[in-house]
Parts: sequence; C-alpha cells; structure tokens
Amino acid sequence: MQIVNSSGPLQGIITVPADKSITHRAIIFSSLADGDSRIKNPLRAEDCMSTLKAFRMMGVPVKNTGEGEEIIIHGSGLDGLKESEDVIDCGNSGTTARLLCGLLSGQPFFSVLTGDASLRQRPMDRVTAPLSSMGARFYGRSKGRFLPMAVHGSSALKAMRYVSPVASAQVKTSILLAGLFCDGVTEIVEPGKSRDHTERMLPAYGVNLEVDGFSVRLSGRPQLRGQDITVPGDISSAAFFIVAALILPGSDIVIENVGVNPTRTGILDILKNMEADLSILNKREVSGEPVADIHVRYSALKGVSIQGDVIPRAIDEFPAICVAAALAEGETSISGVAELRVKESDRISSMAEGLRSMGVIVDELPEGMVISGQERLLPGVFYSRGDHRIAMAMAVAALKAEGESKIKDAGCIATSYPGFWKTLKTLQRKG
Ligand code: S3P
Repeated sequence: MQIVNSSGPLQGIITVPADKSITHRAIIFSSLADGDSRIKNPLRAEDCMSTLKAFRMMGVPVKNTGEGEEIIIHGSGLDGLKESEDVIDCGNSGTTARLLCGLLSGQPFFSVLTGDASLRQRPMDRVTAPLSSMGARFYGRSKGRFLPMAVHGSSALKAMRYVSPVASAQVKTSILLAGLFCDGVTEIVEPGKSRDHTERMLPAYGVNLEVDGFSVRLSGRPQLRGQDITVPGDISSAAFFIVAALILPGSDIVIENVGVNPTRTGILDILKNMEADLSILNKREVSGEPVADIHVRYSALKGVSIQGDVIPRAIDEFPAICVAAALAEGETSISGVAELRVKESDRISSMAEGLRSMGVIVDELPEGMVISGQERLLPGVFYSRGDHRIAMAMAVAALKAEGESKIKDAGCIATSYPGFWKTLKTLQRKG
C-alpha cells in the first residue's frame, strides 16, 4: 500500500526510464543477429527483463550485470535459437508474449509460453490466428485464445499478406518476425498507423523493409548484423509527470531525452488541444528515433473530444489523459478506444472506478468514456488492479486530492517505471 499526499508544485529537470517498446525490439533483433549488439540505456524493468530471460532460455548469451549503461547480446544468427528446456514466463508483458508467438512460429522446435494473472486473460488470437495461417500451430486455453500456450513452430512457414482488423504494433511486429523465417515477401496492412519502432530499427540490422502508408512488406531469410542501439526515454513514462505538472499550480518541469516518434506523441497533441503549455526543445535523432526535451508548465486545461487517428498514437497514455480530463474545464469525450479494455487491465473500467471514487462524474461507454472535469479531487483508497499505468495515473490524481490517499498493489509500477516515486520526490523537493 503506497501513501500519496496532496502536493505543491513540481519543479526541476528529470529524465525518465528508457523506452519499453524499443528495448524489447532491440533485445529480440539483437538475439537474431550475427555478432555482438550493444543496447545502450536499456529499460531494466520487469517487462523487458522477461524478454531478455526468454532469449537466455533459448540459448542466447547475454551480458547484463544489471548495472551500468549497456546490455551486450552475442547473437547467433537467424537460426541460432535453441529449444528452451522450461516454460517461458512472459510475466506481465503482452509485447513479450505476442512478439514471441511470431518468432517461435518460425522455429523448428516446441515452446510453451505463460504469464501472470493479467497476461493470462489477454487475447492472443489476434496473433495466433494469422500465424496459424502461415503454418505454425498453437495450443492454448479457449482454443488458442489465452496463455499458457504451446507453440509448434514450422521450418516451412509460408509468407502471406495479412490485413489486420486492429492497429496494433504487437500484431504487426509478430507477423513481421514470423516473416523473417519465410521465403518470399510477408506483408501486414493495418487499419491505422501503430507505433513504427520495428520499421525504423530492422533496416539498421540489415533487413529490407518497404513501408507504404499503413502497409509494411518484408523479404524473408535476411541476415541480421549486430548493432549498437541507444534507447531514448519513454514518452509513456514521461506522460505521468507531464500531466502531474499540468494539474499542479506553479509547476514548471523539463523532462530530458524523451522519444518523440510521431507514432507515439498523440498525448502531446491531445494535451495541446486541451490548451496545455508544452514545448519541445532540442529535437534530435538517436538510433533512427526522434528525441527531444519536453518543457511543461501548469496550465488551465479545457475539455476536448478525442477520437480517430490520434488514438493508436496515444494508446498507452489514456490513464494519464483521463486524469488531465478529470481536472479540465468542461467535458472530455473519448471514443473508439475498445482496445483499452484488453490492456494490462480493462483501462476504461479501471479509470472510471478510480476517478468516480475521487468524486468525478464519468460515463462509461462500451468503447469509450465521457469525463466531466472539476476543480478538485477527493482522496481515497485506490486499487491498481495490478496495472502499472493505472497505479501511476491514480498516484498523479492523488497529488491533486485534498488529504492522504492510498494506492493498493502499487508494486506493479516496476513493470515499466522503477524509480517512479524517487523521481516524484525529486520534483517535489524543488517545488
Ligand atoms: C506495444 C504496442 C501496444 C502498446 C504496448 C506496447 C509494442 O500494444 O499498448 O504497451 O511495444 O508493440 P498493441 O499492439 O496491443 O496496441
């Protein structure tokens, strides 16, 4: 149980932990490459460590002392993985599970994947259905829908063109990973643009990719070469301090070295529409990804309507955006976010429950929500549902409540943001 008190202004300069999506991909592609790769500033949080452990179990030599700047991976090439002797535990990480489904589809061996209670309830058929058409076999609970799941890879996987019903970078990357092991061209077409870290990173490893609008095509059986990848800070982690600074009067903070890939910056566009005082400084490029410092000052926010193309570009930031909406003038309506129901928790219902118990009027819709903003929030006891982003969003909201709040099951924050409370204290000390 974590206690959170109401807070004065936040002030100072911080960095946030490295990007989770980029770290997962760097570990996976480095493991499939020939030669050494160095991942500089990796995210050493539980989710990415689940991915790293999976590759260790499949025989990839990894040097990770747990400290210092880098993880070194001695890749043994596209055909270098070995059958794991034990079940691979993906922990809380949907990215680990779904990306491994794609990769294991092309392995000539048997694997079993499982995960924690939250991951075991998350749908896997969005990847297992197309991967089965390519020739892999999956045996999971509810006809292959849920983990634990056995995977029989195929050494004769068939390339295909897949038109996905969801804009999901996990689905896209899973199919492309399977495509690496096929002869011929694999194509994935999405209904909207999901995060494009895979498309940016694979060519650096020597893989031929063609991107055309919402379609990505890849030629199979390439040789990947070891790479040095520097990982920027995660905008999804920065989101919590961006919103905290916006809602606490007198706040003025700079978050340095944050990834500002346009497929991830939907939150900045949404908050700017809400009249947030945000500026992007020192824009530069690091390992093929745009990076910048973000300057945030307290702002009187206005309610807005959120829908359309911005949704996949802000998909992980809705818990934080809901908190901004709860303190904005007027109503904020969020629609077309059915995907939030199958994240680490049902985030529509988790945020509706948390904010209502703070006295906010929230209308929960099947695929969205309407939040009526107000000036202050009530303190209380909030349950994270084991979801790291719900725990951090409710902690940020609690900074604006009058009195002491408690967050139950806040340990899950370590999934993506070890050091969250320490960084918060740093910003409060200066305030
Ligand atoms: C991720 C993709 C997104 C996101 C998740 C990380 C990735 O999931 O929510 O946190 O690294 O590919 P979906 O692909 O389900 O949208």
